[in-house]
Amino acid sequence: MEAFESKLYVLAIATQPNIASSGNTAPFPGFKIGEITIDPPVVLAPMEDVTSLPMRVIAKRIANPGLLVTEFISAMAVHYGAEKTLKKMRIDPGERPLSIQIFGAEPAIMAETARLAEEMGADIVDINMGCWVPKVCKTGSGAALLKDPDRAEEIVRAVVNAVQIPVTVKVRAGWDYSLFAAPDLAKRFEQVGIKMLTLHARFAKQGFEGEADWRLIGELRKALSIPLVGNGDVKTPEDAVRMLSETGCDGVMVGRAAIANPWALAAITAAVSGQPIPQPPTLSERIDVALEHVSSAIQFEEEEFEKRMKRPLSESERLDSEGRAVRALRGIVPMYVKGFEGAAQVRSELYQSSSYAEISATLQKVREIANATLEP
Ligand SMILES: Cc1cc2nc3c(=O)[nH]c(=O)nc-3n(C[C@H](O)[C@H](O)[C@H](O)COP(=O)(O)O)c2cc1C
Repeated sequence: MEAFESKLYVLAIATQPNIASSGNTAPFPGFKIGEITIDPPVVLAPMEDVTSLPMRVIAKRIANPGLLVTEFISAMAVHYGAEKTLKKMRIDPGERPLSIQIFGAEPAIMAETARLAEEMGADIVDINMGCWVPKVCKTGSGAALLKDPDRAEEIVRAVVNAVQIPVTVKVRAGWDYSLFAAPDLAKRFEQVGIKMLTLHARFAKQGFEGEADWRLIGELRKALSIPLVGNGDVKTPEDAVRMLSETGCDGVMVGRAAIANPWALAAITAAVSGQPIPQPPTLSERIDVALEHVSSAIQFEEEEFEKRMKRPLSESERLDSEGRAVRALRGIVPMYVKGFEGAAQVRSELYQSSSYAEISATLQKVREIANATLEP
C-alpha cells in the first residue's frame, strides 16, 4: 500500500508543471557545510577511476569549483589495508575544500574509515548511498541502503559520532520508481546530524538511463533544512543555472561533463558566479592539459609505489608504475581530443598507448597538423 501511494506521489510530482521555481538568477551565493563555505556552489562529482588526485588538482586550477570529492573508497578495503584503496585517500594541499567519499554496509567499519579520512586531512566525509552497480549493492552498500532505512540511519549515526568534520550523504531518489525514498531518508539523516545531502535525481534501477528528474530535487528541497546539492545531467552553464533556479537547490554537482573537460566545469562555475563564460580551450591547450594529466598521474603512481617500497624504485619498477598510470587513463586521455578531422583515429592510437612517450608523440603529431591547418 505504502509503495502504491508513493508511486502515485511520484506521478503527481511528474505532472506538476513547475514545482519549485524560485526565480533566482546568477550569481548564486555559496552555502555552508557545517563551518565550511562552498563558494561557488558547484561540486565536482565523485567518480570512480576518474576523480583521482591528479584530475582533481587540474579541475581545481582550471575551474575552481567550490568542492571536490574523491572517487568512492571501500570501507571494507580500507579495513583490510588494501594499498590500492588507501592511496585514493591522499589529498593535495591545493585542492581544498575536499570531501572523501566512503561506502560500506557495516557501521563500525564505516566509522573507522571516516576517522581515517579525517586523520588524512579530509574537510568533509561523504557517505555513498547512490551507487547502483551490482558489485557494490550486493554487499548491502551504496544504493542498496535506500531499501534498508534503519541500517542506512545506523551507518550515518556511526559516522557522525566518529568524526568532528561535517558528514554528508549522496543518495539517489530511491531504489525503483515505486518509492521516492529520498525525503524520508534525508529527514532521518538530518536529525542524526548530517550537514548536506546530494540527490542524483534518478532511481537506482535506472542506472544512467533516461533523464534525471529535477522535479524530485525541488520536492526534496522543500522537505529539508540542511543544504541540498542537485545532481544529474548538468552539462552546460545553462543547465546549472536552470537547475539552481528551478529547484531552489543550494548547489549543483557535475559529473560526466567534467571528464577530460575541466573547461566545461569552468564554464559552469563562471555562469553560477555571474562571471563571463571563458573562451573554450584551443586544441593545443587541450593537449597540454592531457599531457599534464598523464605526467602527474605517473608521478603520483611512482610516489605511491616508492612509499610502499620505502626505497627508490628500480628502472623496471618505474616502468611498471608508468604502465599502471597510463593504463588507468586509457579511457580518459582520448576524450581530451575531439572536434577535428581524424580525431577518431587519434583516439584509437591513444587508447592503445602504453607509455608517456607514445601518448606524447601522438599528441605532438596532432598539434603539428592543427598548427599547419591554421597557417594562412
Ligand atoms: C565513471 C563514473 C564513476 C562514478 N563513480 C561514482 C562514485 O565513486 N561515487 C558516487 O557517488 N557516484 C559516482 N558516479 C556518479 C556521479 O557522481 C554522478 O552522480 C552521476 O554521474 C550523475 O551526474 P552527471 O549527470 O553530472 O554525470 C560515477 C559516475 C561515473 C560516470
